[in-house]
Amino acid sequence: MKVPFGDPAAEYASLRGEIDAAIRRVLESGIYMLGPELEAFESEFAAYCGSRHAVGVASGTAALMLALLACGLEPGDEVLTVPNTDTPTTSAITHAGGRVALVDTHPRTFNMDPDRLEDAITDRTRVVLPVHLFGRPADLDPITEITRRRGLILIEDAALAVGAEHRGRKVGTFGVMGCFSLAPSKVLGGVGQGGIVTTDDEALADRLRVLRNYGHAPGLSLDPANLLGGGFTVLEEGHNERLDEIKAAALRAKLPTLDDRIERRRQAAALYDRLLADAAAMIPPVDEDTRNVYHSYNVLVDDRDAARQFLAARGIATRVYYNPLLHRQPAYAYLEAGPGSFPNAEAAADRMMALPLFPQIADEQVEAAAEAVVDFVGPA
Ligand SMILES: Cc1ncc(COP(=O)(O)O)c(C=O)c1O
Repeated sequence: MKVPFGDPAAEYASLRGEIDAAIRRVLESGIYMLGPELEAFESEFAAYCGSRHAVGVASGTAALMLALLACGLEPGDEVLTVPNTDTPTTSAITHAGGRVALVDTHPRTFNMDPDRLEDAITDRTRVVLPVHLFGRPADLDPITEITRRRGLILIEDAALAVGAEHRGRKVGTFGVMGCFSLAPSKVLGGVGQGGIVTTDDEALADRLRVLRNYGHAPGLSLDPANLLGGGFTVLEEGHNERLDEIKAAALRAKLPTLDDRIERRRQAAALYDRLLADAAAMIPPVDEDTRNVYHSYNVLVDDRDAARQFLAARGIATRVYYNPLLHRQPAYAYLEAGPGSFPNAEAAADRMMALPLFPQIADEQVEAAAEAVVDFVGPA
């Protein structure tokens, strides 16, 4: 049995009528940027998350960079994040004029370790940027307490965690801003790149809207039928990072059924949990007060690369995320963080692999993948 790593086309097929109608609606309207679909998607996404505002942007990368710019980093300001994330988390810090500083992760959850966060804070720290890794909320109680007590700005990298909850509250609403990716492989995957920033702060939302659109003051009509279009005020030097109307319309078509797909992800994860409970592999821990949306299902095994070959020989796809870790990448040699700098993250990175998990996966496919893992690793 073949088990692919994901199936975006199957998701499209299950919503074909809604997505086709949404895209046609945009094409026929003649308004392709900054129009009614984006505005509607922003309010629907904000309502879904429980935030007052949401600002659509071109990618999760843009969401992070514009959020960091919007909070006014000064040169030399440090932003604390984790080494086991994708490059955009850290490159956004640099592009927004800040300095990257890394904190080790917790050996149980692989999310930012709050105890090490406290130790890593310096006089130059301005922002704390935890990642909700693979759809599991970071340890938000201590992280929000520490950032509040130390007067720091909390921004969440929720790129992988649309719909995840901590104590019944959605991620993206704990920090001053939450940054989401809407790329095809994400939990709310669009028909191309996309991102969105959530915030309760109206001034920040306004600034994000200016920053994503060249720095122009809002109000300029992009409707070609407008008889007196043109003319603008440049408030600051911004970027070209809007979320297009076609993409916003397709995302609107998907949002109403997002929770159904998340529940299917959670069922498939629970099946993996049961099937791998007695295997010599570490499976993702389940916490009562969190809703993990399982962007991916990552296990730790010995001899990970051989395990992947073994699964591939049975037709089962796997992935390895964020390996080597960021501080071991050439772009971050300047951090001078050698092997052993972040021991928990490093120990996990050597053993971690992601098993197939997506909303359309069949139980039989989960069973085949889990059986292959058990056959490779043996009993605990
Ligand atoms: C943790 C994390 N943050 C940010 C991003 C950036 O998102 P995007 O690819 O939409 O720019 C990614 C991308 O996959 C990611 O994994």
